[in-house]
Amino acid sequence: MSATLHELHRPLGSTGLRVSPLGLGTVKLGRDQGVKYPSGFRIPDDEQARALLRQARDLGINLIDTAPAYGLSEQRLGPLLRGQRDEWVIVSKTGEEFEQGRSSFDFSAAHTRMSVERSLQRLETDRIDLLLVHSDGNDLAVLQQSEVYETLAALKREGKILAYGISGKTVEGGLLALEQGDCAMVTYNLNEQGEKPVLDYAASHAKGILIKKALASGHVCLADGVDPVRASFKLVFAHPGVASAIVGTINPAHLAANVATVAAVLGGSG
Ligand SMILES: NC(=O)c1ccc[n+]([C@@H]2O[C@H](COP(=O)([O-])OP(=O)(O)OC[C@H]3O[C@@H](n4cnc5c(N)ncnc54)[C@H](OP(=O)(O)O)[C@@H]3O)[C@@H](O)[C@H]2O)c1
Repeated sequence: MSATLHELHRPLGSTGLRVSPLGLGTVKLGRDQGVKYPSGFRIPDDEQARALLRQARDLGINLIDTAPAYGLSEQRLGPLLRGQRDEWVIVSKTGEEFEQGRSSFDFSAAHTRMSVERSLQRLETDRIDLLLVHSDGNDLAVLQQSEVYETLAALKREGKILAYGISGKTVEGGLLALEQGDCAMVTYNLNEQGEKPVLDYAASHAKGILIKKALASGHVCLADGVDPVRASFKLVFAHPGVASAIVGTINPAHLAANVATVAAVLGGSG
């Protein structure tokens, strides 16, 4: 018999946070424009979203990923998670804004501080567990030429965030972000493994790794043959650097199947 997800919570690097190996991504709770999913979808209403969060929690998921750039995601999660703050590890981001269908980026000290204060308000909390730089792809320039990382370090000293890092797109950026911070959110899936050196570094330096797009935003699920979800999680969790995969689903059957598959893969019966 495979383990349950509750038994498989693990440390997120050296942050002191313990996370479920599967996290819930919430793009689809807040935004349906400018997304690259294989098929269209309707943003869940409050009742559906509340049921999804309850299901995730009951299945052993304690990790939830949001961002100011995910449309109404943060604003919705505040009320939806009311009364449950200590049961969740909340990840949010700074740097990207998404308005009227378009992204813009600001990594200045003033914007970073404003953004984190706004996330605290929207999420109705006094602390965000992990705050990631929402990179525009120029990871190194963002880290070296803006004030975002030093501002996040200051916010960590103030206790408003507990850990920080980057959600990036390059190996060089991921490595620097881990050298100077706590965690990186990295794309790693059956189609894209170019950022593997970031996972290698994390494994040997006790840094935290969250995987984004573990299912290639759903595109691997269209493949024929072997079970693509199982094959994806086997790949992701074969790497010792990975703490958790953040999968963005709004389908309760997919959520249950993903939890069962991760538990089987990690529990040794997958
Ligand atoms: N920081 C960044 O730059 C960044 C970028 C992208 C993503 N992210 C984070 O990472 C999360 C995940 O990324 P993502 O949503 O792009 O990609 P993903 O998790 O690889 O894929 C999500 C897609 O896969 C589908 N799916 C999930 N489980 C499935 C299953 N068992 N069978 C068939 N289809 C399934 C979902 O559709 P259903 O809803 O129908 O299940 C959804 O369309 C996001 O929600 C977000 O939190 C961060």
